[in-house]
Amino acid sequence: MNINSWKGTVAVAAILCGVCSVVVSLSAISLRPMQEENKILDVKKNLLLSAGLLKNAKASKEEILKIFENIETKLVDLKTGQFVTDIKPESYDSRAAAKDPKRNIQIPSNLDLGKNKMRAKYGKVYFVKKDGKVTSLVLPVHGKGLWSTLYGFLALDKDTRTVKGFGFYEHAETPGLGGEVDNPNWKAQWIGKIVSDKNFKPFVQVKKNVDPKSEEGKRTVDGISGSTITGRGVQNLLNYWLGNHGYGPFLAQFRKGGA
Ligand SMILES: Cc1cc2nc3c(=O)[nH]c(=O)nc-3n(C[C@H](O)[C@H](O)[C@H](O)COP(=O)(O)O)c2cc1C
Repeated sequence: MNINSWKGTVAVAAILCGVCSVVVSLSAISLRPMQEENKILDVKKNLLLSAGLLKNAKASKEEILKIFENIETKLVDLKTGQFVTDIKPESYDSRAAAKDPKRNIQIPSNLDLGKNKMRAKYGKVYFVKKDGKVTSLVLPVHGKGLWSTLYGFLALDKDTRTVKGFGFYEHAETPGLGGEVDNPNWKAQWIGKIVSDKNFKPFVQVKKNVDPKSEEGKRTVDGISGSTITGRGVQNLLNYWLGNHGYGPFLAQFRKGGA
């Protein structure tokens, strides 16, 4: 065939397209395990940063995995608070489950403080351990701010009431306004706050002008200027996940020593 003819041009283009698509497909397939591994590593890094267990956002894979050796991940049936043992927690994707009618539940609107509408039936819990003993729990939390759903991790002391760390790893609030939830000074305020009353009813508050030394101040984090809606969203989503429709039944089991 004369490659300078129109048939030759079409044939060369077709062969080139075929070769390129094979190369692209092969790279996509061969890179998939690496992408999955990086996704899992990213969640681990975000968890450690949010929970205050890692300070350096540029930490190496080895550093992250080393800290994670002391963290046990479990899956919990949120309704009963009991562990789920027939699913590997590492393979469980809560976001996908929240969208799957077989694996989600609708949140009654009067309880839906985080404005999520649906949630997965099961939730992950991370047990941070030292010398084999649990020192804190890390709970994934999410809910609506002004523009977006904020996804983060809340680290609680083993008393289940005292915050050890809190932060978001994904949201689309306005930089400089709602986006100030990422400001290290704002995040630092959460440490030591009490999230529930003596009966373990969640009472987190994000509110301006509360004396941090007052009784109310113990459960209150200062509202961000110009970001009342994001602040209220944060307050509400935490109260949801700490409540009876969220991790409440699990936290009760944990306090009894059952979980
Ligand atoms: C461009 C723009 C972006 C805004 N972004 C946010 C935001 O991310 N979070 C928020 O709560 N309010 C945001 N607001 C302000 C809200 O519309 C609302 O006025 C504010 O929550 C009131 O809070 P304040 O009482 O603290 O001023 C934004 C307003 C504008 C005009």
